[in-house]
Amino acid sequence: MNRFTKQNKIIHLVEANYHLLPVLNRFGINLGNKDKSLEKICAAQNINIDFLLAIVNTFHNEEYFPETELKSFSPLLIIDYLKKTHQHYIEYVLPKLESLLELLIDSNITEIHQLNIIEQFYQKYKKELLLHIKEEEQEVFPYILNLVNNNQVNNQFTIHSFEKEHSNVDDKLNDLKNLIVKYIEPVYDNNICNEFLITLFRFEKDIKDHARIEDKILLPQLITLEKHING
Ligand SMILES: [Fe+2]
Ligand SMILES: [Fe+2]
Repeated sequence: MNRFTKQNKIIHLVEANYHLLPVLNRFGINLGNKDKSLEKICAAQNINIDFLLAIVNTFHNEEYFPETELKSFSPLLIIDYLKKTHQHYIEYVLPKLESLLELLIDSNITEIHQLNIIEQFYQKYKKELLLHIKEEEQEVFPYILNLVNNNQVNNQFTIHSFEKEHSNVDDKLNDLKNLIVKYIEPVYDNNICNEFLITLFRFEKDIKDHARIEDKILLPQLITLEKHING
């Protein structure tokens, strides 16, 4: 799989993988940039092009994960990107899933209300995910920012394992997928159900990429920073 470079234009990225659209938005890049290269767009908007390319390429190609390069970027840049991603999940993806879920439940063609169980599984997933995001935003990220900005280690702080929590969130998502794909009687509108699942799978891919950056880049950066400060 080819890697995107500074010379590429937005159209190249979008044609190769339209799932990159929200990734570009997280950097503040919108459409309508005529025929400008990524390099020109980034220069005009004061965006770190190397960081953008590393993120875009890892998102596009699961096999490509330049750990050393990614770790060389400031945790500030990484946290900023991760926070924008959380915002996208909370403000756009979850509400979209919820409105599709509502349509799906309303499309029930029987008197049996078994579709409500999907709602229950979804709510469990959402609760776990939001709790996880809240912990990152309110505890983990501020702790790392404090390490970077003030060189201070808080010995009271114990980092929760991102990896373990990510797998808990993943489990809930798998329960939801299995429930719909394997067990629930299909007494709903198929098109709406497909739309819901497609949105869910797309979200799963995005969130896996997100968790990989937290587990493999941000966490090691945090450990290195602590070691460095503690001497
Ligand atoms: Fe996160
Ligand atoms: Fe996370």
